Amino acid sequence: MKIHENFKLINHNTFGVDASSKYFIKIKSEAELNAVFKLKQFEETEILILGGGSNILFTQNFNGLVIKNEIKGKKVIAETNSFVNLKIGAGENWHKLVMYCVDNEWGGIENLSLIPGNSGTAPMQNIGAYGVEIKDTFVELEAFEIASGKIVKFSKSDCKFGYRESIFKNEKKNQFIILNITLKLHKNPNVNIGYGDVIKVLESQNIKKPNIKDVSKAIIHIRNSKLPNPKEIGNCGSFFKNPVIDQKKLEEIKKDYPEIIYYPVSKTHVKIAAGWLIDKAGWKGKTFGNYGVHKKQALVLVNYGNAEGQELYELSEKIITDIQNKFKITLEREVNII
Ligand code: FAD
Ligand code: EPU
Repeated sequence: MKIHENFKLINHNTFGVDASSKYFIKIKSEAELNAVFKLKQFEETEILILGGGSNILFTQNFNGLVIKNEIKGKKVIAETNSFVNLKIGAGENWHKLVMYCVDNEWGGIENLSLIPGNSGTAPMQNIGAYGVEIKDTFVELEAFEIASGKIVKFSKSDCKFGYRESIFKNEKKNQFIILNITLKLHKNPNVNIGYGDVIKVLESQNIKKPNIKDVSKAIIHIRNSKLPNPKEIGNCGSFFKNPVIDQKKLEEIKKDYPEIIYYPVSKTHVKIAAGWLIDKAGWKGKTFGNYGVHKKQALVLVNYGNAEGQELYELSEKIITDIQNKFKITLEREVNII
């Protein structure tokens, strides 16, 4: 276990921001994590846990210890004719995990294909796409409590999952390090193709009875057509959440913008497509030197070169103010800001 000093994080965040941390350690096991917390050197040091760095914006250097979670492993811990319970190390790459499940014909997470990042980070914001969230297959996770050094189990209800939310982003923020997660996957899966363009893509391929591999491929195809590949253009996916507003406010906005895109979330509330708002406000494709708003998806901020985290953050401030002025809607950031 090597302790790096003044460590460059440019290859450890998908925005490709050239920030650094005072200290940096990779941990590959629970034992190594325990060892780090026994080091006197770090007793007073601020800690940041990093997975794949695909949902984090460094607006400054981090003056503490970054612990990169590389705890690996996948194990079936229970099995029936219908289900497998799979325990996964937090440091396993999420998309590779999805591919492993698809190859084994275990259904439940195929709609979450091609989401970057680590499996252990997935519950942090209850990752979601194409009508599925990780909460739908989630059983439990184990996490290291920083204050006590104890391992604590969190069931699905303990995690308080919501849209891009969990207890780890709220009341337990910065208190736990997720070590592993357990998912319950279906051996005889039903496919979920009700969302957006998925059916259209399958129809265009003349696939009438899609299996989970077909669905995964269709979703990868859609994602590749509109989201920038972080290996080519720095980004963190959606920079903002889709705002949830009440029907009354929706009716007011519809007077000026009858074409606004929204989805019902309850009898009283709807989720507005923030990408549509930002697009309508004229930001889509705008560039400011080496950063800007993606040309195919206005919800995605991009770093074309050597942009600084602070510049991307200031752009997000301008967008929030503009959307507030134009639509009286307050956008909330999805990306974690350092
Ligand atoms: P990181 O960026 O490394 O960390 C995110 C946060 O979690 C940080 O606050 C970090 O401190 C904390 N953290 C990380 N690991 C741990 C741990 N083990 N224990 C405790 N805290 C931890 N998200 C979606 O929900 N749906 C999408 O469709 C989607 N599409 C994306 C597309 C692209 C092109 C990109 C770049 C991102 C996309 N994302 C999407 C966002 C992102 O991939 C997810 O949020 C992902 O789960 C982040 O994982 P990570 O390991 O990279 O997290
Ligand atoms: N739209 C526009 N202009 C744009 C972008 C979008 O008009 O520039 C419209 C689209 O035409 C569509 C609607 O807005 O009618 C929604 O767009 P899209 O289907 O691309 O989805 P999204 O709401 O922008 C959300 C998630 C994504 C997830 C997709 C698919 C959030 C914040 N984002 O995006 O998650 O992959 O749905 O389920 O909920 C992420 O979290 O990082 C992420 C990429």
